[in-house]
Amino acid sequence: MIDGGDRIQEGAARARRAPVAGAGPRRPAPRERAAAEAVPALAGIVARPAREGPSAALVHRHLLGIQGLTAPEITLILDTALAFAEVSTRPIKKVPTLRGKTVVNFFMEPSTRTRSSFEIAEKRLSADTLNFSLSTSSLLKGESLLDTARNLEAMAPDMIVIRHKSSGAPHLLARHCHSNIINAGDGSHEHPTQALLDAFTIRAKKGRLSGLRVAIIGDLAHSRVLRSNLFLLKTMGADVVVCGPPTLIPAELGRLAAGVTFRIDEAVEAADVIMMLRIQRERQKGGAFPTAREYYNLFGLTEERVRRASPDVIIMHPGPMNRGVEIDSAVADGPYSVILEQVTNGVAVRMAVLYLLAGGTLDELAG
Ligand code: CP
Repeated sequence: MIDGGDRIQEGAARARRAPVAGAGPRRPAPRERAAAEAVPALAGIVARPAREGPSAALVHRHLLGIQGLTAPEITLILDTALAFAEVSTRPIKKVPTLRGKTVVNFFMEPSTRTRSSFEIAEKRLSADTLNFSLSTSSLLKGESLLDTARNLEAMAPDMIVIRHKSSGAPHLLARHCHSNIINAGDGSHEHPTQALLDAFTIRAKKGRLSGLRVAIIGDLAHSRVLRSNLFLLKTMGADVVVCGPPTLIPAELGRLAAGVTFRIDEAVEAADVIMMLRIQRERQKGGAFPTAREYYNLFGLTEERVRRASPDVIIMHPGPMNRGVEIDSAVADGPYSVILEQVTNGVAVRMAVLYLLAGGTLDELAG
């Protein structure tokens, strides 16, 4: 990981109160100060505590991870997404909320759901978007991530949505760029908007997050979705049991999960929510389990196993799915599955994140 820095960072109002001139190594650019003036409302809601000393002058606001977000901050994002979900049901789905803003989608790893739902969200908010991928960039000619980001910044985008194979890449950008940075998945570290859309889906189906028994099963060692969900669900008061092969369970999970088991039947017992994780062969060094067939026999979610769960269980998967490896098609396409609803909800959640980071408030939206 490059850096484990701040998550949604300093509140603009606090930053305005902090000493600026001569206080530290870098004086905020006029554009940053203008941004701080323009977005006082967000600062009062999605704000980190002020830091003393030179760094207090920084006024960046980013979504780099779920770790560090409070329950009211998560609730604000989910409530704002609920307001935007209504927009998606209208015949005309576009609202002028981000007109004049430019968002760069900077995807250095493949993506179907995250990239397209960010782009739809940006278009529904009337932002101008630029899609930028590894295969068409000068990164292939050896340009560094930081130089690439600085060159993009030179064209004055307002926000950069980044997916990268290296954990901490969004944090690096956040330290060096003036744009709002949104983490769309960094290595095995975090995927905050996935956890937010998962929470939105659970809340829509169950009416709450607190007190639910959530089983998360699969490749626990390499999953950024797992990490973001653990931070979020723990913060919101859910009980999470994690399950996977011993070779794919990192030691620190015991700190975040209510339970850790190698037996899927135990994990799904009376579960309100079952979240399956993809086997990430591209991040594994090999040898974590003998064959896909053996993995399916021991950890695959079948209809028989679903019958052990709560009668109104919901089955989730962030995608892409390995059918017949971590999940049987009969379950993925069955009556308890909310997998495509997760994808639908991703648009509203990403609209909410973009809107709040741009300085919007829930009150303005409701009014
Ligand atoms: N859930 C998810 O991140 O899917 P993509 O890789 O298709 O974006």
